[in-house]
Amino acid sequence: MNIKILGISGSPRRGNTQQMVMEALNAAAEIPGVETDFVSLRGRLSPCIDCEKCPVNPPEQFCVIKDKMDEIYPKLLEADGIILGSPVYFGTVTAQLKAMMDRCRPFGRAGISLKYKVGGAITVGAARNGGQEKAVGAIVDYYLLTGILPVGLLRILQTGAMGLAFRSGMIEKDEWPVEYLPEGKVTWADQCRDIGVTVATTSRVIRAGLKAVDAE
Ligand SMILES: Cc1cc2nc3c(=O)[nH]c(=O)nc-3n(C[C@H](O)[C@H](O)[C@H](O)COP(=O)(O)O)c2cc1C
Repeated sequence: MNIKILGISGSPRRGNTQQMVMEALNAAAEIPGVETDFVSLRGRLSPCIDCEKCPVNPPEQFCVIKDKMDEIYPKLLEADGIILGSPVYFGTVTAQLKAMMDRCRPFGRAGISLKYKVGGAITVGAARNGGQEKAVGAIVDYYLLTGILPVGLLRILQTGAMGLAFRSGMIEKDEWPVEYLPEGKVTWADQCRDIGVTVATTSRVIRAGLKAVDAE
């Protein structure tokens, strides 16, 4: 049974979030039968303008705005599991990730649900208590509204399921916030890998279950 896991970084930088999502995907890819794909929302991504013109011609074309979403719509539809990552910007997800979420309106308007897909969330803010939970909440809300099943950590309990605290550039330079993780404790990479494994494993269970009850 082959499954696909799509990772999306909502950062405008090739920074912490991208590395964290990649780490989750690398761990998922170690599971036999798991294919991974990665998209960065860096660059131009227009917000929804509520033009009331969707759906144009689904699934060939979902939105009248021509940009990166053309590439993202089919990837979202094909994925069994999705990992959305975002830096915390003013206590929530970035404008880029919010734009991507809003631009998913054509799915609903075309009667297409993302049901039975599994969703994980990775967030990073510069400060502890910087809004990581609220950014995770925004991602989970998107999952609930689209039919995606949100999942947390499977193997590592307690730490980091609601996001991590690193300033821009810290992960690239392998720097650690002084107060953050004492020696010998779980690292950011462990937590991201756990999210990748959780999303992939749960996606496999869902796929097998759907087949078993003939619900695909
Ligand atoms: C516009 C802006 C707003 C931010 N707001 C917050 C915030 O509310 N809370 C926080 O902890 N960090 C905040 N940050 C810091 C980033 O979340 C942090 O540096 C993050 O690690 C950057 O991730 P990246 O390298 O993937 O872009 C903000 C950064 C920017 C540029």
